[in-house]
Amino acid sequence: SKKSQKMSQQQQQQPNAEESVFNRRFVAIGDVVLLKQRHGNTKTVRVTSADGTVQTVGGLLKFSDLIGRRYGSRLVTKRGFVRLLPLVPELWARALPHRTQILYPPDTCLIVAQLDLRPGRIVLEAGTGSAAFTHCLARTVMPTGRVLTFDFHAERAATAQRELTEHSLQRWAVCEHRDVCQLGFPAGSNADAVFLDLPQPWLTVPSLPACLRPGARFGSFSPCVQQAERTAAALRECRRFTDLIGMECHQRRYSLQPRSLPSADLGPEDDGNDAASAPAPEDDKEAPGKSTASVSKEASSLPLRVAATEPAYEQPCHSGFLLFATFYGPAE
Ligand SMILES: C[S@@+](CC[C@H](N)C(=O)[O-])C[C@H]1O[C@@H](n2cnc3c(N)ncnc32)[C@H](O)[C@@H]1O
Repeated sequence: SKKSQKMSQQQQQQPNAEESVFNRRFVAIGDVVLLKQRHGNTKTVRVTSADGTVQTVGGLLKFSDLIGRRYGSRLVTKRGFVRLLPLVPELWARALPHRTQILYPPDTCLIVAQLDLRPGRIVLEAGTGSAAFTHCLARTVMPTGRVLTFDFHAERAATAQRELTEHSLQRWAVCEHRDVCQLGFPAGSNADAVFLDLPQPWLTVPSLPACLRPGARFGSFSPCVQQAERTAAALRECRRFTDLIGMECHQRRYSLQPRSLPSADLGPEDDGNDAASAPAPEDDKEAPGKSTASVSKEASSLPLRVAATEPAYEQPCHSGFLLFATFYGPAE
């Protein structure tokens, strides 16, 4: 009926409190929507009210046309269309305004797994940078966990905190302005994990025993192997860490193509068995063209259809050196 249609439309306009920020099904007022335009270009827009508008490559869009639409759907514009995508960390990493280098999904997936992160975990992070990884961390620890992230660049820290609030993530991720190499992480955090993506991670190590719970996981990302070596040395010197491992994440693409392979002509069949290769007695012989040799020759002349994999042409490379370790607990 018209009444129930109107009710469901109204429900779709209000964000469902039970839905995770990263798991919205319909666009609602207050959402940050990623508009995928032509040529893979993505525009980010916050739907502030029903009256607003947004300019896209294909023309002006009214917010009222976005509200209530299902994420993933296509919206026709004057000169083309846009695809409505939700704010999820992997898509956000492609759309965000870069203030620094950021971490990308091949590394972030590995880090989240290695740090044993899950809902309810307390995580310390530095530096925040463009907060790309902070979004990933927040999604992993919600709804009961928390991320405390630090950056010594005041403007960057303020921008990250503003962005986290705009994305309705402030309950799960808080960014503070702090130099963690000079001041360390706040003592007494009793965190389940710490992750470092900054130039001198080794300088933070002496502060870690006071802010991690026994069994907590340590992780760091460094672009140069010398940084990873210095951090590993600091962890050993601290004597409170075990299971120290270094890793690199290589991503290598394969293309899967159907191929026809010509069969090799191996000449007349000869299995080396003298008895078999000897002429068959007259009454054993089959009709001409039906001999075993001629049948197998016929089959072998057919091209072979296979699904072939081949590595992509670009040189596979890694993005950085990862270090992981487990914290024993503070000294007795
Ligand atoms: C490469 S960025 C981190 C990027 C982040 N992982 C992301 O995915 O967006 C490194 C950040 O560390 C910050 N930084 C460097 N030294 C720091 C320190 N001693 N304390 C806190 N932050 C620091 C820098 O300001 C910079 O923003």
